[in-house]
Amino acid sequence: MVERVEAVRFESGKLVLLDQTLLPSEKVFLHLDDVTAVWEAIKMLRVRGAPAIGGAAAYGLCLGVAAVSDDAGTAAFMAKLREVRDYLASSRPTAVNLFWALDRLVGVAEADSAGDVAALKARLLEEAHAIKAEDEAMCRAIGEHALTLFDDVESVLTHCNAGSLATMGIGTALAPVYLAAEQGRTIHVFSDETRPLLQGARITTWELGQAGLPVTLIADGMAASVMRQGRIQAVIVGTDRVAANGDVANKIGTYGVAIMAKEHGIPFYVAAPSSTIDFGTPDGDAIEIELRDPDELRRLGERQTAPAGVDVYNPAFDVTPARLVSAIVTEKGVVRPPFEANLRKVVLGA
Ligand code: MRU
Repeated sequence: MVERVEAVRFESGKLVLLDQTLLPSEKVFLHLDDVTAVWEAIKMLRVRGAPAIGGAAAYGLCLGVAAVSDDAGTAAFMAKLREVRDYLASSRPTAVNLFWALDRLVGVAEADSAGDVAALKARLLEEAHAIKAEDEAMCRAIGEHALTLFDDVESVLTHCNAGSLATMGIGTALAPVYLAAEQGRTIHVFSDETRPLLQGARITTWELGQAGLPVTLIADGMAASVMRQGRIQAVIVGTDRVAANGDVANKIGTYGVAIMAKEHGIPFYVAAPSSTIDFGTPDGDAIEIELRDPDELRRLGERQTAPAGVDVYNPAFDVTPARLVSAIVTEKGVVRPPFEANLRKVVLGA
């Protein structure tokens, strides 16, 4: 098994998160027991990547109701649970895993609400642990299915970070790379740096480096040229939300990568655990895209890189239309177009 750093874990009553804003220069773990600190960690991308956000939020919800007295009564407990759910849900809008995980815990508590408060707290923590364990298994299964697409693939391009630090397992888009390594085979990764917050440069290259796997960093603007040189046989990215029709929201810049891949006849794959597929959202237009602080574009750390007052448009994600997606790799299998019907068939068995 390849060594990996855990982005999210729960230990001694605390949520332990690797602070990803400090990578690659510092490896600092935050030990959180306060729900406002969990909200801040999600908002500020200390924990990031759709499945990791979902896992952190599930543990955050447990922390947010921990102080409710065991004698408070279940009605008061459920009221507090819903309040904390809404609070955590306000941290970031695009990754559906956030809402999926929070609502899964609230649903479990609703189903059990005849029990006492202490039992409900224990049940919620058990469910948060289940989400983490399931995510780990989903990552491996996605990796196995993705590898079936990579027989002749020596190098892939990825955008942002959909690796172990974005999940609670070996990642989604990077899972086949880790699995290949376990099998003694190398899949070389080209990592887009991923402006403006540099998840590709800071996080993807760091985690692959920690695992001893080869990676080449390129600026976002170099991807077309590297494709044209024939150095990439497939693109694989993660996603924050897949709509029912197969439109894919992912880190800003992904749509451009998909267009470039089409131009060069390179397959464009999306790795998506079923927790990221949102059958309640009909298409990409219905996905809320997070707008972030303009200073992310005006500054690079302490350094001003644009005039302080310049007008900025800074969406954190974009939507790649389903027609540009060659396949969506889920833990249940590889889904090919037409996605509207085939996602339901493979993921829901409908
Ligand atoms: O803003 P981020 O860093 O949370 O964005 C992350 C991504 O866009 C990932 O590709 C996506 O969440 C999938 S993670 C398996």
